[in-house]
Parts: sequence; C-alpha cells; structure tokens
Amino acid sequence: MTDSSPKTIDTLLSEHRTFVPPADFVAQANVSDASVYTTADADYESWWASWAEKLQWDKKWDTVLDWQLPYAKWFVGGKLNASVQCLDRHVDAGNGGRIAFHFEGEPGDCRTLTYADMLAGVCQVANGLKSLGVEKGDRVTLYMPMVPELAMTVLACARIGAIFSVVFAGFSPTSLKDRVQDQAAKLIVCADGAWRGGKVLDLKKVVNEAVADCPSVENVLVWPRGGALKSSAEDLDRDVKWADVVSSQATTCEPESMDAEDPLFILYTSGTTGKPKGILHTTGGYMTGALATSNLVFDLKPETDVYWCTADIGWITGHSYIVFGPMANGVTQVMYEGAPNYPKFDRFWELVAKYKVSVFYTAPTAIRAFMKWGDEHPDQHDLTSLRLLGSVGEPINPEAWVWYLHHIGGGNCPIVDTWWQTETGGIMITPLPGITTTVPGSATTPFPGIEAKLLNEDGSEVIGAGGGYLALTRPWPSMLRGIWGDNERYEETYWSRFPGKYFAGDGAKRDEDGNLWILGRVDDVMNVSGHRLSTMEIESALVAHEAVAEAAVIGIAHELKGQTPVGFVILRNGYEATPELSEELRAFVAKEIGGLARPEKVIFTPELPKTRSGKIMRRLLRDVAEGKAIGDVTTLADPSVLQGLQQEYEAKES
Ligand code: WTA
Repeated sequence: MTDSSPKTIDTLLSEHRTFVPPADFVAQANVSDASVYTTADADYESWWASWAEKLQWDKKWDTVLDWQLPYAKWFVGGKLNASVQCLDRHVDAGNGGRIAFHFEGEPGDCRTLTYADMLAGVCQVANGLKSLGVEKGDRVTLYMPMVPELAMTVLACARIGAIFSVVFAGFSPTSLKDRVQDQAAKLIVCADGAWRGGKVLDLKKVVNEAVADCPSVENVLVWPRGGALKSSAEDLDRDVKWADVVSSQATTCEPESMDAEDPLFILYTSGTTGKPKGILHTTGGYMTGALATSNLVFDLKPETDVYWCTADIGWITGHSYIVFGPMANGVTQVMYEGAPNYPKFDRFWELVAKYKVSVFYTAPTAIRAFMKWGDEHPDQHDLTSLRLLGSVGEPINPEAWVWYLHHIGGGNCPIVDTWWQTETGGIMITPLPGITTTVPGSATTPFPGIEAKLLNEDGSEVIGAGGGYLALTRPWPSMLRGIWGDNERYEETYWSRFPGKYFAGDGAKRDEDGNLWILGRVDDVMNVSGHRLSTMEIESALVAHEAVAEAAVIGIAHELKGQTPVGFVILRNGYEATPELSEELRAFVAKEIGGLARPEKVIFTPELPKTRSGKIMRRLLRDVAEGKAIGDVTTLADPSVLQGLQQEYEAKES
C-alpha cells in the first residue's frame, strides 16, 4: 500500500538515506541483539555447531571442523539425512498438517500440500527411484518446471542418498547434455512440459535431444504436467511414466543415514571458461547453513509466516531458500510456476494478496521490471500482509530499492539485500532485519560467523573505507567442497588468486560506516537478470556457427537485466554481414545455451582489438558498446581497429 500522494523516486531517495528497523519489527525479531556478531566471531565453530544442534542427527559429530585448506570437513563423523530435516522432523513434532506449499500453476490450477503430504509424496518418489535401480551415490538429473514434484524429487534423492543435479528448465539440449554427461547421471527426471507466458514449453523434446548422446542414462522418468501439455516428442525406449513408477508406491521410505560430508547435490554454474563448473555441496554443513541463514535473515516464524521466494529451484537460490532452508524451518510457502506478467502485470501482487504473503524474496531484475510496468499494478492490491522483503542475485540500484520499499513494502518493511553465490551455498553478506540499519544499494555486513575482507591487487588488506577484491577468509559450513571431478580447477579458481583465501570473483567497496557495496564481477563472468553467464561460453557457442571465424562477447549495462551480452563477430570468407545473419546468430546462441544467453546485439567487425600477445581487450569493446570514452589503448596492437568498430557500432545503433 502506498501513501495517498505519489512520490518521485528522487524524493524517496532523499527520505531513505538509511532505514532503521521499525520498533515493532525489532520487538518480534528472531534476533535483535547485535551481540550475536561478537559471540559468533569469538568462536565461529561453536556458533555454527549451535545451529547444527537444531538439526536431527542419527549420530552426533566428533569434530566440528577439519580444515585442510582449501578442503573443509564440517561435523566430521556425524550422520543425518537432509530430507528428514525438512519433513519428518515437522511431522513427528505434530506439525504434519501445516501447509508446506500453496502451489499455483500459471493457468490458475491450485494445489495445497501439507508437510505430511510432502513427506508421503517424497517417500513415493524415493521408492520409485529405488525401483529404477537408483542407489546411494548415483547421480540423478532433474529438468522440471516450478511444481511441487520438483521439490519432492529433490528431497526424494536426498532421502535415498542419490546426488541430485537440477538443470534449469530453460537450458538448451546441448547445455542439458553437457551437464548430464559431466556427472554421468543414471536417471533423468523431467516433466513433459511447462507453462510460461501463456505457452507450453516442450521440455520432453529438449530431453529427447539431449539424452541421445547420454549413454549413462538408463531411464527418463516423466512427470505429466497435464493432459493439454502432452509433449509432441516421441516416447523413447528408456522412458518410464510417473503413473507406473511412482504413483502406486508406498508412502513411507526409510531415510538413508548419510555421513555429514556425503555429497547432497551438484549444481552447475558458469565460470570463466566455456565449460560450466559442477559445484559440489555436502549434507551436514549445507543443511546447517541453510537452516541458520533462512531463520535469521528472513526472520522466519513457522506458525504464522507465508514465505515466497520467486526464484526457480534450478538456481542455487531455489535450492537453499525454497527447498532446504525454509523447509528445514517448517514454514509455509507459495510456489508459482509461471511468468510474473501472465495473464496480467499484477500476477505476483494478486498472489501476495491471495495467500497473505509475509516474507517476499526476489531479484533486482524483477523489481526493475515491476517499476517499468507501472505502480498501478502493485498499488491496486492489498499488500499489507508483507513484513519483510529480500533481494538477491545482483547489485540492487538505490532507485529500485526505495521503489521496492515504498510500493511493495508500504514504506515500513525492512529489506534484506543478500549477497552470496552458488559456491557459498548460503547467504554471506546481508542485513539482519531486526538489527541492521540499512542503506539502499548496500548488502551491509557479513552474516554472523562469516569473515569477509577487501583485498588489494597484491593481496594486502584494505582497512577502513575503500575498494578491493572481495574474499572470504574463514571456512563456513555451507561452502562448496569442490568442483565435480576437477579438484585442480577448484583450487585454481577460488584459492590461487589470494593464497589461503576464498576469492569470490566480485569487486566491492566499504563505506565510512563499514557497509559493503558489491560492485560486480571482476572476471569474464556477466550477470544477466541475476544469472551467471560466462563470456567464453557464449563465444564458444558463436564460433560453433559455420559463418563465424572469431568472436568476442562482453556484458554491457542494461536498464532491466543489469547486464546483457553483446557479441562482436568476425565472419568467415564468403559470408556476408547482413541483419538476417546477425539475427540468426542471436537465435543460434539461444538454441545452443538457452534463451538467457541470447545476445542483445551481434556486431560484425573485420577485426577485434587485441594486445600484441593476442589477448582480446574486452574492456575496450565494453567502452565501445556502452558509448563511453575509449580507455587506455597503449597495449593495443593496432589502435585503428577501434575506430572502425566504433563506427560500425554507431551505425547499428542509429
Ligand atoms: C552476484 C546467486 C550484488 C555476484 C545467489 C555473485 C550479487 C553472483 C548479489 C553469484 C547481491 C549475488 N548484490 N551482487 N545481493 N547476490 N550477486 O552463483 O556477482 O547465481 O558473485 O548465486 O551474483 O551468482 P549465483
């Protein structure tokens, strides 16, 4: 709800240079005493152990932390099952009747699932997986839309100790195939289709194309999204149906007692090379981090809150802050399948009002889109149930922050801007809503027990206000344990730039008050709508096209998406630089990687700016693309290349 007089963003910005947690919020907050930071800092192992103790262990650990840099083992010797934390614990405590998910499909189909329903469903899926021969340690790839069955399948894998890997159901057949092959998955679980923007995406067709080159896959288990959605793709010999394998299974299944350090999942994320990294997370530490961070950052009250995280389970945010964190806390959630603007621009706000959502977590890209669509869409709904808002995935600009506070949060909801990564497993830098005075645009300070430092080029520490490379300098329970099948890359990527410290790949600055401002990636990774893409990955896709001799890709600033890819392409002899070919190349990248990676523009050029040693100077391409003054060109082999490029680019713009 808003005040009666509309205010401009500039007025709001001047009114909200800082935001102090309101007294009524503080009075009910899970934590409101800043001594939590000093307690955690004084002995971070004990602090994390105090959270681990809230989980249900089959056998307690012998040692909290075994740290052989850069390899951490947390809660060594302990045994537990991740699905038990999210399901059995609540059902056994008498809370089986509590709603776990209010599900809403894009066409408007609704389902309500209690924790007891989820437990029964998870057990059926788990028994189904077993009947297909899936065993502890086997890999299972999931390719499904945002439906309760996705969360169930994730938890079912966890229940039997299979390592799951969710691939976002917008990725292309090639991207899916690469991931399935890398982990040598035994089974793919998919849906035949998904609703998005009023259309049906044919997921089964993608799977069929991918699986043709995946000899490790013994079966494809297909969940039907609904009659009308039946895929046009043919059935394969390896296909098995949900109705045959899952639906008639028993609704109980003994959970596998897992070692705290047994793998829980692999999630692929873009690195600086063309090959995505399979980030590995294990059981006890990950669950501890997910439980603690969701409890304190989102101030969860399982009896009363209705929590909605709009992320997809295909990304880390959905793993930690839909499935494991909120469910370990036993909270009620909203899950929505489709697009935020379908059938109308107010779909999200209609859902917030309908389910009386109290905690809402989304991405800056979405917030900027809401701003563009117009204030009238949220303003026409009763959003007074909201008490806390969150942001994740990319830096949030102060304008979006104050708009979010005012138009969604009614001016009085604290906003938690949470910085973290697939690799960190859980939130690392964030306000605590009952404690922190926030500043629009700053993720503020590390979560209790986390130590973050800013480093200079030479690895020395930036003390006080200033900018530098962001590094995490203590182990934490939900940290990645490695890259699937590639320890060398793990050590090289995260631990070699500043020996002994985890280098996140982001630059940040600290202000006079000690608040951290994330500035963005300092490597060749871009952040498109809060999702990571590597320039190399898109370049590899472009050069796979027969017309392309050489390609350079950069991320440029974009009003809504934060960043967007632009490709510079040198054509092979015999190909003509036409608008049609540019269009074809954009579509080709989308087909190779997924729609997310489709370049905003493809610019043809006879040459690329390179150093004398042949390295492409992407920094200069970015200057050209963003229309900035061209930076230092002294290392360039042939400075005239840039002039031509600039002309080419301007011609394209006009
Ligand atoms: C960026 C998403 C600024 C950052 C959870 C990081 C952010 C990358 C924020 C990780 C934030 C994430 N403010 N930047 N609050 N949150 N990022 O692995 O560049 O998909 O390194 O994890 O997103 O993206 P990932």
